[in-house]
Amino acid sequence: MKKTIIAILCLLMAGSLVLAQEAQREFKVNQRYLNIPIDHQRDNFKLLFTANGVDSLSVDLSIAQGEPDYWIYKDLSAYMGKKLKLNYDGPSTDLDRMYMADTIVGQSLLYKEKLRPQFHYTTRRGWTNDPNGLVYYKGEYHMYYQHNPYSTGWGNMTWGHAVSRDLVHWEELGDVLFPDRFGTMFSGSAVVDWRNTSGFGTKANPTPIVYAYTTHAQWQKQCIAYSLDNGRTLVKYADNPVIDSHEAAGSHETRDPKVFWYGGEDGHWVMALFEKDGNSIYTSDDLKNWTYRSHVAGFDECPDLFCLPVDGDPANKKWVTLGAAGIYMIGDFDGYKFTPESGRHQNTLGTFYASQTFSDTPDGRRIQIAWGRISHPGMPFHSQMQLPTELTLHTTRDGIRLASNPVLEVKTLLDRKFTADKAMSVEDVNKALAQFTDPNQGLHIKATMKLEAACYTAFKMNGAEVFDYNPSFGLFNGHFYSTKEISGLEFPIEIYIDRTGVEVFIDNGLYSWSSPLVCGSDTRLFEFEGWAMTIHDLAIDTVASIW
Ligand code: FRU
Repeated sequence: MKKTIIAILCLLMAGSLVLAQEAQREFKVNQRYLNIPIDHQRDNFKLLFTANGVDSLSVDLSIAQGEPDYWIYKDLSAYMGKKLKLNYDGPSTDLDRMYMADTIVGQSLLYKEKLRPQFHYTTRRGWTNDPNGLVYYKGEYHMYYQHNPYSTGWGNMTWGHAVSRDLVHWEELGDVLFPDRFGTMFSGSAVVDWRNTSGFGTKANPTPIVYAYTTHAQWQKQCIAYSLDNGRTLVKYADNPVIDSHEAAGSHETRDPKVFWYGGEDGHWVMALFEKDGNSIYTSDDLKNWTYRSHVAGFDECPDLFCLPVDGDPANKKWVTLGAAGIYMIGDFDGYKFTPESGRHQNTLGTFYASQTFSDTPDGRRIQIAWGRISHPGMPFHSQMQLPTELTLHTTRDGIRLASNPVLEVKTLLDRKFTADKAMSVEDVNKALAQFTDPNQGLHIKATMKLEAACYTAFKMNGAEVFDYNPSFGLFNGHFYSTKEISGLEFPIEIYIDRTGVEVFIDNGLYSWSSPLVCGSDTRLFEFEGWAMTIHDLAIDTVASIW
């Protein structure tokens, strides 16, 4: 009896699988987008896009049958004029819910949505995490990023792409690196191959941008791709992967290659790669053949490695290596091995994660962008990029430390609305702040805090704490922070407030904090709190929208 039931169940299951796999739709592409409704309560099913008979892309998504949570879209430009076949392992009625159009659902509201951050980059639709392939090339800053175009949750990792001429205003260009037989597209970096060491350059374009990225399947491998059209199209290298180190590293976790050129004319390429428990170093002459050199433990994901002058002195340079959580070490690097000269430090906490610095900046600035782990309730997109910041090294009473401050270009968004040239009481500062209660309006507040004694101070929104500082315990938001000043009682502070989140830089960027803001109320009131303290050089600006 039991056997018969199992047999019937197996038959039924097999039958429904066959049926499910039969869901199909075929049409000629003559409009730019395929609009797809998403419902998070539904199960994920697999959708396979096949253009002109060639298997192209398989993704997981949960299509709405009733009222959708939001609509996403698949850009069909690449298939224009071709026959597109959709195979689907869910109910065939789901396929009827999608439709082709030359606009996306919600197009007229794009960037004007209620909780769309106004001066932090967000993608139009879907989930984003790490910034990838940050590179400056021929007048444009390129920002690629981890993108799930089909949901506001993580998955289907694909590289999205946006460009900017000033690091502040970004234009989203669409996805460029899609899952393939090696797996999904995890994080990686980009460099300009000025000497065409890779041979990917051509007569028409001898300086390709070369990308190193991770593919994620059963284990992770490193692959490369290149672009000859200003980063618009990425061509995957035919002999990928270029590194498959899971056995040597004793781990399936080998990812997020960050590549740069070390030395002068006869230098070589260096790759910092996260492996198992820290940052490994590989080197190469052509970006295709890589040799393992060394490893420094103590980091997790998204390594970076770069050189900076200390206090701006070009004769005194130090190397910095870091990982996704913003933990860094200062030391020396000889092109093959990083030798730490400091312990592990951390200069930021909060929504910040998985930062990367730009390659090939025209003025040599070390500019970083991080993933802002923040949600925007009810919106068809998730996360944001933190403000681009410039990294510098400074001598402090505790030794050399890394500072991170918003790049100067961010200041072009500011419109000064209030300044005070004399010291103000907390009450008077709060009166000034009470004029800025529009929850849609970006704000920037700059001041120097002077505490008369080691007493608690806080910054609040609608009565709820955004952050606090307790110098007696050396605690900033509950985490130990020792300010640069000996007394710790006087420190500059800069606060950037967007619709859904806040970034705070204290001590000239030696420490920063970022967090989401509670959204949804019609007004928001910001207030400082503190007893024996005065606030100096207060300036309040509104921040213009980047969209
Ligand atoms: C960091 C990370 C990377 C990985 C990517 C996958 O946030 O886990 O290590 O490449 O995200 O999306």
